[in-house]
Amino acid sequence: MDEANTGALVTGGSGAIGSAVAAELARAGMDVTVGYRSDTAGANAAAAAVREHGRDAQIVEADVTDPAAVGRLVERTVELGPLGVVVNSAGVTEPHAIEELSSEAVRRSLAVNAEGAIAVARAAVPRLRAHGGAIVNVSSVAAEIGTVDVSYATSKAGVLGATRALARELGGDGIRVNAVCPGPVDTPMNDAILEHLESRRFRGHRTVDALLDRYEAQPEEVATAVRFLATHEFVTGETLRVDGGLSL
Ligand SMILES: NC(=O)c1ccc[n+]([C@@H]2O[C@H](COP(=O)([O-])OP(=O)(O)OC[C@H]3O[C@@H](n4cnc5c(N)ncnc54)[C@H](O)[C@@H]3O)[C@@H](O)[C@H]2O)c1
Repeated sequence: MDEANTGALVTGGSGAIGSAVAAELARAGMDVTVGYRSDTAGANAAAAAVREHGRDAQIVEADVTDPAAVGRLVERTVELGPLGVVVNSAGVTEPHAIEELSSEAVRRSLAVNAEGAIAVARAAVPRLRAHGGAIVNVSSVAAEIGTVDVSYATSKAGVLGATRALARELGGDGIRVNAVCPGPVDTPMNDAILEHLESRRFRGHRTVDALLDRYEAQPEEVATAVRFLATHEFVTGETLRVDGGLSL
């Protein structure tokens, strides 16, 4: 893959991590389509950061739970140039204790975090096959250590399963598929998670203590890991933890 002439799609590109990823991929020489849902100002800011690195950018609103919208998102992406990198950073969390966890909340987590990533891959693969490429899924350390809440941990564990299955299925097509598992990142999403953990008085567990002590990475540290997985030519099916050792 010639990364200097590669088009990238970043879902959740208006968010804290997605916008850092968009800027990092632009730094690597890629034009970037910023996928987002509703946060137009955030998407425009992410696109502006891409352009500051001298690359083209566009923003495209698309709900990843809507397969038709995802199809249109990929079609718009290739208007910017051949698609080589897809980063699934769209995600939601609304932590609940198990007794308060509605079926709707479970379905929402699974639909956006897990099924959304699969839907984007399904739409993008025919385009990626043309030149080879890479998919990077943003999972979470929650998949491995069970933090946040049941629905989030389940959805992010699903992302890891999908990553390995897709890597196996698509390796012969020159498409690599990897995942990052960030620990807590200094973002509004993490603030909501910490509030939940505080309210549930989960203190006493070493990992949760570390979380509550605001053991956080910056979005840019996740972005450089994503760039590595997007551009390294021989790594596939891998899960890269970016958690400062939290999960050890
Ligand atoms: N913030 C953290 O501490 C942390 C830690 C580990 C993993 N993650 C994961 O990293 C990713 C990005 O998180 P963030 O902190 O940037 O969150 P964020 O809330 O800032 O960004 C979320 C992004 O997802 C998009 N999105 C949400 N629902 C969508 C939908 N249905 N369709 C399309 N787009 C949708 C939003 O528009 C936004 O761009 C998420 O997948 C999250 O689960 C975050």
